[in-house]
Amino acid sequence: MNGILSGKKILLGITGGIAAYKSILLLRLLVKEGATVQVVITPSAASFVSPLVLATLSKHPVAIEWVKDDAQWANHVMLGRWADIIVVAPTTCNTISKFATGLCDNLLMAVLLSATCPVMIAPAMDEDMWLHAATNRNMATLRSDGHIVLPVAHGELGSGLTGEGRMLEPEIILAHIVQMVSGSKPLVGLSAVVTAGPTHEPIDPVRFIGNHSSGLMGIEIANALQAAGAQTTLVLGPTHLRANSAVNTIMVTTAQQMFDAVANVFPDTQIGVMAAAVADYRPATVADQKIKKQAHELALSLVKNPDILQHCGMNKSTNQLVVGFALETNNEAANAIEKLQRKNADMIVMNSLQDEGATFGSANNKVTIFEPGGLSQSFPLMSKQDLAKEIVSLIAKRIHEKA
Ligand code: CTP
Repeated sequence: MNGILSGKKILLGITGGIAAYKSILLLRLLVKEGATVQVVITPSAASFVSPLVLATLSKHPVAIEWVKDDAQWANHVMLGRWADIIVVAPTTCNTISKFATGLCDNLLMAVLLSATCPVMIAPAMDEDMWLHAATNRNMATLRSDGHIVLPVAHGELGSGLTGEGRMLEPEIILAHIVQMVSGSKPLVGLSAVVTAGPTHEPIDPVRFIGNHSSGLMGIEIANALQAAGAQTTLVLGPTHLRANSAVNTIMVTTAQQMFDAVANVFPDTQIGVMAAAVADYRPATVADQKIKKQAHELALSLVKNPDILQHCGMNKSTNQLVVGFALETNNEAANAIEKLQRKNADMIVMNSLQDEGATFGSANNKVTIFEPGGLSQSFPLMSKQDLAKEIVSLIAKRIHEKA
């Protein structure tokens, strides 16, 4: 079969969670794309999904136990070495914990610990478990061990509650697998414009209105877009940080200058990512001379700055993709969804100032990405560099869907 995964060998691990029913669809998609799939399930997964269905769809016997019925040993080392990629979907909290500590109490764990290929895990659990410090610690360990930990979706959970922790939809997991296995630069031939950093709105020759943004998140996105093959222009407000030299950086100071630079470049790009912390207002007039201390009170009259994201969202063509950010302190999800609609964006990356370790100037961030149609993905706390790669991989998927 001549699918996008033709000739690829994929080992699909399934652990015992309610999301296992979606693994059947993932298996079908992998086979449809031409992959050879060997399924290995944990003993508890057999209560959630039938080995007979998996064997029929994969056209291979399903491995569960160390020793098969015919007394043949399941060679976990060979299974771990056979695959081009191992994908465990769903991965329960229990398996994440075992994998992080190297506990080897079933065949799938032995395969994971014998793997010589990339290992991708798609977590699925209830929100309280997903947010627990121990789970976050374990996922950070898996990441630093070099494994790919996919985000989770927001929605209805096995417990009947609604929140973060749903396994990603099979189509989205497939897109991650395709990108990983093909190892290509998915954005070659495309161009992008990114805004980053604060803006400074002058009051007089020595003073300005500004904010604490370091610009790091937008700079990492510009680096990741460039690394994925897109010709990237970064419109950067006043900050001491810089992007890689391959990124074409335009330095600006004010929101109006940022707007002008973006408006100029945007029509020739396919991707716009507005990550700057743009000042919403600027002083109505800028004093020529330093304002002297005189009266007891001083009132500044402010006028609204143009909204760069909204401009791009409202003027985009059908083959352009526009991504915005939302920094929220309360009613986070509702505000982010409102911003997505008001600015006609294709994606809003929302971070909350309530999230520990994800503040201004930090190297880390914790976000949820909202897309039209109620789609959302919540990522755990991770470095802004890793997060930029995740955002760019989602952009790559969406832009190719538009094409
Ligand atoms: N943004 C922009 N131009 C502006 C203001 C905001 O491009 N003049 C972009 C930001 O880069 C970000 C998104 O809009 O991608 C949301 O910014 P935010 O400050 O959270 O939203 P606002 O529209 O300013 O709404 P509010 O201040 O009411 O939350």
